[in-house]
Amino acid sequence: MRIAMIGAGYVGLVSGACFADFGHTVTCVDTHAGKIQALKQGEIPIYEPGLAELVASNVKAERLDFTTSLAEGVAEADAVFIAVGTPSRRGDGHADLSYVYQAARDIAGAISRYTVVVTKSTVPVGTGDEVERIIRETRAEAEFAVVSNPEFLREGAAITDFKRPDRIVVGTEDERARQVMTELYRPLFLNQSPLLFTSRRTAELTKYAANAFLATKITFINEIADLCEQVGGNVQDVARGIGLDNRIGSKFLHAGPGYGGSCFPKDTLALMKTAQDYGAPVRIVETVVAVNDQRKRAMARKVTEALGGSVRGKTVGVLGLTFKPNTDDMRDAPSIAIITALQDGGAVIKAHDPEGIEQAKLVLDNVTYVDNPYHAAEGADALVIVTEWDAFRALDLKRIHGMMAQPVVIDLRNIYRPDEMESLGFRYSSIGRRTVADA
Ligand SMILES: NC(=O)c1ccc[n+]([C@@H]2O[C@H](COP(=O)([O-])OP(=O)(O)OC[C@H]3O[C@@H](n4cnc5c(N)ncnc54)[C@H](O)[C@@H]3O)[C@@H](O)[C@H]2O)c1
Repeated sequence: MRIAMIGAGYVGLVSGACFADFGHTVTCVDTHAGKIQALKQGEIPIYEPGLAELVASNVKAERLDFTTSLAEGVAEADAVFIAVGTPSRRGDGHADLSYVYQAARDIAGAISRYTVVVTKSTVPVGTGDEVERIIRETRAEAEFAVVSNPEFLREGAAITDFKRPDRIVVGTEDERARQVMTELYRPLFLNQSPLLFTSRRTAELTKYAANAFLATKITFINEIADLCEQVGGNVQDVARGIGLDNRIGSKFLHAGPGYGGSCFPKDTLALMKTAQDYGAPVRIVETVVAVNDQRKRAMARKVTEALGGSVRGKTVGVLGLTFKPNTDDMRDAPSIAIITALQDGGAVIKAHDPEGIEQAKLVLDNVTYVDNPYHAAEGADALVIVTEWDAFRALDLKRIHGMMAQPVVIDLRNIYRPDEMESLGFRYSSIGRRTVADA
């Protein structure tokens, strides 16, 4: 089948490359000329493990190419995926659908025969109806169906997630579109990934419900972590104790500095707004959003407390800037709020991240970026672990102890053990685990 993928970002580029790898012929279209230029020269504009090799092999096999011309990509396509951004709209938190609607208008002008238009972007309930209306209004005679096919991949594990998904959700009531979608995903359900057909609105809502539920799970364990700190419990043991219950499950029960990233913050907010508009408020999600917002600055207070109540003039080394490991994505990363709050308190920040420094430079000012974790620790009054990159899991702790101005470590991802850190002479604090000294 021939596919046009509109938007060659984290989702579009991964999905496009994976569909090509299944044997389909894919053209990725993006309005960002620099991105397309880079891709044509074999450069990958984002960091995602395995993506460079996947793109290169499919380009070589002539199943994958790139263009800024939507008309060129769409003209012969059986299916056109919309994978453009849907960020929070400034001011009210609703999803900004302007990129989706622009893509719909452009697609309307370019289709030449029966085409399935698929929204892969995360879009509020009813967006498919509007995309259909836009295409119909622009091209009354066009033959098409609009389908919702939300994407559930995670950055950092995007290729595996796309190729071995827990499920594929397809929202359509059009029989012809159903057949096209079945054909596109055939290699996956042969591999036993369930293909779940629903109505279009249900599919749209399913994506938000999934993200809101996961954000709730994270926020729940974060609050239990705070309680553990007060009562002398260990949140990792609680998480294991509840996670082994199959009804609960062990995933997304890692206490930390609060969820961030390009999806959970904006999607929880957008769901909340949709629900309010429809008079069916999602109060649990509203609380999750409020609790998580508070949490990031609370992490900066934790650092301040570890330094005796003030960070003024102190040097804080930060390990990890991206919202999670194995990505360069800085969108809504907790590090931004934490670092900004520490700077507000007068701290001097030195930071290291294996892949995120270039993106971090675009959103954080007055940070000294260093090229390895030891340089972040050197002369620092405190070292804060914000993102749990593997490279931070086995640091030479003796060396770090010897090079810091004060041996203070605040581990916001619980990657070290309190007893071990204390025996090495660190003043160590973490999330939801009382230190030996506290107990
Ligand atoms: N990033 C994730 O992990 C993830 C996971 C699941 C779903 N999603 C959803 O997928 C969508 C895309 O997210 P992303 O992270 O890939 O965004 P992104 O910002 O990385 O990529 C979007 C791309 O679309 C391009 N674009 C915008 N308007 C265009 C147009 N009219 N024509 C062609 N290209 C256009 C932009 O230049 C950009 O390259 C969002 O709705 C997001 O919520 C993201």
